[in-house]
Amino acid sequence: MVGTLITIEGLDGAGKTTLASGLLAAARERGADALLLREPGGVALSERLREIVKDPALRVGPRAEALIYAAARAQLVDELLLPELDAGRFVLLDRFVDSSLAYQGGGRGLGVAEIAELNRFGTGGLAPARTLLLRIDPALGRSRQDGRGDGPDRLELEDERFFAAIARTYDEIAAAEPGRVRVIDAARPPAAVLEDALAAITDLLPGAPE
Ligand SMILES: Nc1ncnc2c1ncn2[C@@H]1O[C@H](COP(=O)(O)OP(=O)(O)OP(=O)(O)O)[C@@H](O)[C@H]1O
Ligand SMILES: [Mg+2]
Repeated sequence: MVGTLITIEGLDGAGKTTLASGLLAAARERGADALLLREPGGVALSERLREIVKDPALRVGPRAEALIYAAARAQLVDELLLPELDAGRFVLLDRFVDSSLAYQGGGRGLGVAEIAELNRFGTGGLAPARTLLLRIDPALGRSRQDGRGDGPDRLELEDERFFAAIARTYDEIAAAEPGRVRVIDAARPPAAVLEDALAAITDLLPGAPE
């Protein structure tokens, strides 16, 4: 693998997708052969699984939910992510394994270690070079999301305790892996978030000293 994988994480409404498109443009400007993907999704099977796992009309138990996310991720890794990384591309990924550690491991209470093990199997152990964690108060994330105008999906209908547990788990992941995970204050305007994010990956962009 000669490419670079950067993942973007954080609560619902933290600004991941907004940052991802800004970073894509900035990375390309700096000469990176960059590509943006999202989870769950990116390939046909995973986009179908996305529809299923987010559907408020379906009953999906916590273990099934963890397995569906892991399956969607496994297919993305196998079908697209590894080939693109092998081809040397700079891949920005809107959510990855840390989302499952936080949402299913922490939020659903299935245990971070258990979900990590499941995802090691699913991804073959693929790990990002760097992860940008957009840190935000859950209530602010929720209010941004409400402002977006699309209806809540199945997970977004959960209560405050669920999102507090997710936020806590993200913080624990960041504290455990400070080299990989860079925490960004996502309460600030998009331009400030983008500036911090670029500073946090500058060593991985073309032209950086070895
Ligand atoms: N830094 C910011 N300051 C204020 N508003 C923002 C900021 N970043 C994004 N927004 C707005 O907040 C809303 C949610 O942003 P976005 O969709 O990027 O979040 P997300 O983390 O991708 O959410 P989700 O987890 O639901 O995909 C959008 O309407 C977006 O325009
Ligand atoms: Mg998004």
